[in-house]
Amino acid sequence: FKHRGCYFAAKLVTPEGIDLLEEFEIRDSDVFLATYPKSGTVWTQNILSLIFYEGHRNGTEDIVIMDRVPWLECNVKNLDLANLPSPRLFFTHLPYYLVPRGLRNRRGKVIYVARNPKDVMVSYFHFSKFMLALETIPDLNTLMERFLSGKVVYSSWLDHIRGWYTHREDFNILFLTFEEMKKDLRSAVLKICNFLGKHLSEKELDSVVEQATFENMKRDPRANYEFLPDTLVEKSKGQFLRKGTVGDWKKIMTVAQSERFDMALKEKMKDLPFNCLWDS
Ligand code: A3P
Repeated sequence: FKHRGCYFAAKLVTPEGIDLLEEFEIRDSDVFLATYPKSGTVWTQNILSLIFYEGHRNGTEDIVIMDRVPWLECNVKNLDLANLPSPRLFFTHLPYYLVPRGLRNRRGKVIYVARNPKDVMVSYFHFSKFMLALETIPDLNTLMERFLSGKVVYSSWLDHIRGWYTHREDFNILFLTFEEMKKDLRSAVLKICNFLGKHLSEKELDSVVEQATFENMKRDPRANYEFLPDTLVEKSKGQFLRKGTVGDWKKIMTVAQSERFDMALKEKMKDLPFNCLWDS
């Protein structure tokens, strides 16, 4: 359904739930991860959990990352989000204008992770086959037309990134890309730590980086969203951690599709500092 200019999956959120978030009280210590879906959310959720929770890092606790870093607009675990102890960590896919007002008034901190939209779309294509809350899209061309016209959950990729970037002064915000995380995970983790004022020893940092690699996360049921019920996902058809590579779109998109994408998106974001997204 469409609500206040944005498309949502009816099985996951309600219009009333979205409206209530406007007044959700923000604490200065809150940390929000904001992404367009399929941009590395689970990856960064895991990194945040590893940075903040020693028990996650040293393996003495068995708590799934959805409990550590819950989804703001879709409280799948039914947690009492308002009364969680500080520092609270959340993730959201919302466009900037639908997040709690306090966050838009520079309370709390936001980490926005962006990813090459062709990889985002290809990841979504596979994802929609096993995530039952989403409509299965018959072929890539159909998805591409919907993706480019913003008729997918969370609407237009371009509007999402443009909105968050052009309103960056309203937030305490750090921008990161999936591609830079992939290229140099340690530097990306350090950037996150510096932004959040968290000091980790070299050994702790090594441990975060090690546990946040694709291979290790895929093996870790806490990190690979294996807690999701069969009513929500068809596990035989896929996993959250699929390939975790940069440029996978080249294996499935035709040259014509890629050019159409460039015309529709790349040309329109020349004024934004996200050229790096197109390098792959
Ligand atoms: P692919 O489908 O291209 O493999 P989100 O968490 O926002 O839904 O994004 C999912 C994408 O992030 C998937 O991309 C997934 O494999 C990738 N991903 C998750 N953890 C990762 C990691 N540790 N390293 C690299 N990619 C990761």
